[in-house]
Amino acid sequence: MENIHSFKIKELLNKYPFLDSFFKNNTLKISGKEHLTLRQVFAEFDEDTLEDMGVEPQLFIQQITEFITQMNTFLGKDENKVKSVTILPGNDKSGNIEGFDKLVIKQGEIISIVGPTGSGKSRLLADIEWVAQEDTPTKRKILINNDIPDKKWRFSSSDKLVAQLSQNMNFVMDLTVYEFVELHAESRLVENKDNVIKRIIEKANDLAGESFEPDTPITSLSGGQSRALMIADTAILSKSPIILIDEIENAGIDRKRALSLLLSEDKVVLMATHDPILALMGDRRIVIKNGGIHKVIETTDQEREILSTLEEMDRTILAYRTKLRSGEIITKI
Ligand SMILES: Nc1ncnc2c1ncn2[C@@H]1O[C@H](COP(=O)(O)OP(=O)(O)OP(=O)(O)O)[C@@H](O)[C@H]1O
Ligand SMILES: [Mg+2]
Repeated sequence: MENIHSFKIKELLNKYPFLDSFFKNNTLKISGKEHLTLRQVFAEFDEDTLEDMGVEPQLFIQQITEFITQMNTFLGKDENKVKSVTILPGNDKSGNIEGFDKLVIKQGEIISIVGPTGSGKSRLLADIEWVAQEDTPTKRKILINNDIPDKKWRFSSSDKLVAQLSQNMNFVMDLTVYEFVELHAESRLVENKDNVIKRIIEKANDLAGESFEPDTPITSLSGGQSRALMIADTAILSKSPIILIDEIENAGIDRKRALSLLLSEDKVVLMATHDPILALMGDRRIVIKNGGIHKVIETTDQEREILSTLEEMDRTILAYRTKLRSGEIITKI
């Protein structure tokens, strides 16, 4: 849901007509103030007047948010429902048309994207993030729910279609870990903010090696730590129906745990990877060659068996890694 502080009353009423009854049943007087945002309305009264009216701004925002959520659920409206993502063919780097009709990815599916370095995996993720309409170098077209998507997906920062965990992450803000997560929590209007923030920091520390504190400045987090924080933040806070992951493996964090934290039934997950374990964890994998979608392969039963073997090997490697990281001398495990 949007950050409702920043909407004018009349915009809110337009978007959620049922709010009319909410305002009528409430003691906050809004008549004549429809051109203001809620924040501005609160600012018009001093504290005593608000108290006399029995209005506590923060509580008010919380109640109105809950009311909207409840009404939307009741009316069967879920603004962010994405049942499918469709990729229509464009061209590879040599200009050849990609050899498939259309590729439909359904809610609940995990798709991995494999291919050599520089082949175009990140490009495909970027096409989806941008909801490409033949306006990227690949000339691909992306449909949401089998339709050309609403412009809001492309231009609104609050109705985010996609949560992106990208290959490169640079924090430039002068914030602590707590403040950084708090910003996200506030913009998503979560209840129980403190608990949620605590949980995110805890999960991030589960994924990373050396732990960090809520008051650690985000600029001093290591690559793996900031990656872990972004994964936990996305997993717990993001309402985006599509999750795009570009290479978890380079971050030195527990990949499998990270992936299972991110997965949820109602999302579409696409991840570009060079890691055989992650690649085989997908239901299907897209093979990219020379910038084009070359093949789409469904993970076979035999591959799933091989996956278990690989996971076994991975656990051995992780055990050695933990020992090495903590300065031990390696002996046979
Ligand atoms: N179909 C295409 N047409 C034109 N340019 C393309 C196409 N696909 C990819 N490219 C370009 O090729 C370059 C490399 O692609 P990309 O970064 O997606 O590779 P990658 O597979 O993610 O590599 P890595 O494994 O190293 O992350 C980018 O500049 C990208 O824009
Ligand atoms: Mg890439």
